[in-house]
Amino acid sequence: MTSSLQNSEKAIGTSLLDRVGNTPLVRLERLTEHLSGVQILGKAEWANPGGSVKDRAASAIVADAQRRGQLPPGKILLDATSGNTGIAYAMLGAALGFPVTLCMPSNVSPERKHILNAYGANIVWTSPADGSDGAIRMARKLAAEQPDRYFYANQYGNDNNWKAHYYGTANEIWKQTGGRITHFVAGLGTSGTFMGTTRRLRELNPKIQCISMQPDSPFNGLEGLKHMATAIVPPIYDEHLADRNIDMPTERAYTMCKRLGRTQGLLVGISAAAAVAASLDIAEEEAKAGREAVIVTILCDSADKYLSERFWSEPTEEEAAKDAVDSEQFAGQRA
Ligand SMILES: Cc1ncc(COP(=O)(O)O)c(C=O)c1O
Repeated sequence: MTSSLQNSEKAIGTSLLDRVGNTPLVRLERLTEHLSGVQILGKAEWANPGGSVKDRAASAIVADAQRRGQLPPGKILLDATSGNTGIAYAMLGAALGFPVTLCMPSNVSPERKHILNAYGANIVWTSPADGSDGAIRMARKLAAEQPDRYFYANQYGNDNNWKAHYYGTANEIWKQTGGRITHFVAGLGTSGTFMGTTRRLRELNPKIQCISMQPDSPFNGLEGLKHMATAIVPPIYDEHLADRNIDMPTERAYTMCKRLGRTQGLLVGISAAAAVAASLDIAEEEAKAGREAVIVTILCDSADKYLSERFWSEPTEEEAAKDAVDSEQFAGQRA
């Protein structure tokens, strides 16, 4: 009775899964007010029910596995994740009734650990020194040892990851900008967001410039992103797809996190701030060249999971340099 009611067209309310995707496109007006003819817009991916862009890939991966009968009752969904995909799987597992085991580095933020625990996921912790690659190796090992126990979702090599963005994110952006998008900017983790969105946007208008962004070093604070030159390269990643790539220092992302909070009223995650910093580089170049531009980027998640990071209360390099100048001037006036 209940399920037939839920399945009928007359069902009331929204299912959790229907809330994945169709996120708002937020104008970051104050960032570009000094640049004429240029706009930056961000997809507010924290509006997804699990709080991040990864709900899109995870729900596409799970839906495909269920269609193919790869997740029969009792079978455990297994994957490696730096956090957000794990949260998405854990939410879906809780909502749809399948168990979830995640391999992840033990230095993920305490907020993520609390969220995963709240959804009831089982975690296999890996060494922080091995980063997300250590988690990938562990997931591969478990899947190889017990293939009957686990469905290895393999977000790094699963085509449903990028297809979620090909069919979803890209078409949403096209519609929300009325086809006016000129540039697309996104960070690379599994690369699913960039690959899928870029492929579809190029079909819709081959002139759209698609720019990838990644950390400028293997040791970085851009959670969720990969330094491709030194990481296990995801099988779904095609390095030839981007028109260009921007290498992002962690410090710039931290500074942008604080700036977006204080001047836009937007508390975004670190990779989102990095994507905005890269978009601002493009915006400045376009304005300097006298070209109009509609730059769209992906705000992967909100600041909620990163609020315990120290950078929020520490001065940025820019602020520290200004403080040093101020105190030198003060000392000079007193002398
Ligand atoms: C916070 C955050 N930003 C960016 C990404 C990268 O997205 P993608 O895996 O689609 O490249 C992830 C992926 O886990 C993430 O968690």
